[in-house]
Amino acid sequence: MSQEPRPYYPGLDGVLAGETAISTIEGGLQYYGYAVRDLAEDATFEEVAHLLLRGRLPSEEELADFEAILVEASMVPDEVINFMSTIPLHVNEMDVLRTTVSALAHWDEDPSGTSNVTKAERLLGQIPILIAARYRQRMGLRVLQPQPDLSVAANLLYLITGDEPSPTQERAMDVSLILYAEHEFNASTFTARVVTSTLSDLHSAVVAAIGALKGPLHGGANEQVLRQLQEIGSPNNAEAWFRDMVGDKRRLMGFGHRVYKEGDPRAYVLKDYCVRLAEERGQMELERTAEIIERLARDTKGLYPNLDWPSARLYHYLGLDVDLFTPLFVASRVSGWCAHIIEQSQHNRLIRPRARYIGQTGLTFEPLSERESAE
Ligand code: SDX
Repeated sequence: MSQEPRPYYPGLDGVLAGETAISTIEGGLQYYGYAVRDLAEDATFEEVAHLLLRGRLPSEEELADFEAILVEASMVPDEVINFMSTIPLHVNEMDVLRTTVSALAHWDEDPSGTSNVTKAERLLGQIPILIAARYRQRMGLRVLQPQPDLSVAANLLYLITGDEPSPTQERAMDVSLILYAEHEFNASTFTARVVTSTLSDLHSAVVAAIGALKGPLHGGANEQVLRQLQEIGSPNNAEAWFRDMVGDKRRLMGFGHRVYKEGDPRAYVLKDYCVRLAEERGQMELERTAEIIERLARDTKGLYPNLDWPSARLYHYLGLDVDLFTPLFVASRVSGWCAHIIEQSQHNRLIRPRARYIGQTGLTFEPLSERESAE
């Protein structure tokens, strides 16, 4: 084994840990070579999910086929819905989603004979059903069935709220799903690739990724963003709150990014939809509070919003419960995770880095009878 000193980068910051053709952040976020700004402007989430899973934007005919697959795939076995209803109501929505996505694998007929693309399409159809069903079980509401003629975005809003969204609401949700779909080697995606690199199965990799996304430094931030904004309460309180937050050395959720140091371009795209929805719902005061926090974070800490900063407000304006915010991130990012699972499977090498040892060495073994208890 070679002994030359190896460079060590805490948190793998800046380390190239693999190759991918799925997306790049360099020079502006692109999915398979398409600028995400263009996809957010002109595509639907279904077109983007097709691009991520099959490597190309669909023709009209291919899109119709793909949408039909998602409608058919959105059948969740009654056994899983019934099992979900036995999970205590206080359990965190992300923990329930992690458990029920794992359970889905048990009802996947012929798992070894099913391609990862088919499994991915099934999960894309099933995860919105799991999210909405759990929420309505918790609220004591009737669990609804997806409307075959509604888009993924519209069905998500319908299945959760019971109301079909307006065109503006549907487009805002659709754009949030496009922007959340994929982001190179973020922590949850890299988790999915590590699991896949051992030749484990797609459901195991997705369940592991859900666990990683739950963390407040990653996907869990969007829920914390709304809780912080509600803590601030009003634009008049923003400056004092911010001063206290800095003084207490707390993290400003929805700001900062491991890669983007001059701001997350996705955040600016979604902000436009926030303002439109806030005006529609008479909640411009929350936008004014957000503006003040953005200015203070930029001018005093050099911190810029990431995607979770506007997405939390957007989901709030759409009337969605804050506990659903990170599960909604899953409903979108499962497309990116599965794209990376498929790519890793096709060009695999076991992912196994080394560690720098900082522990003790050369200790003398003492027989059990001679060992003393710790202080
Ligand atoms: C996502 O990787 C991806 O692509 C993720 C994601 C995706 O699409 O998959 O973009 C989604 O996870 C976005 C990030 C959501 N998380 C948050 O909003 C939580 C708040 N943000 C921070 O915790 C932080 O900015 C991270 C975790 C996102 C990034 O952490 P880094 O890379 O370790 O931050 P850094 O090295 O740039 O920090 C430099 C300094 C640090 O000070 P020290 O601890 O070294 O003294 O700036 C501080 C940080 O503490 N800092 C913050 C801060 N972000 C950085 N201080 C207060 N509030 C913040 N938000």
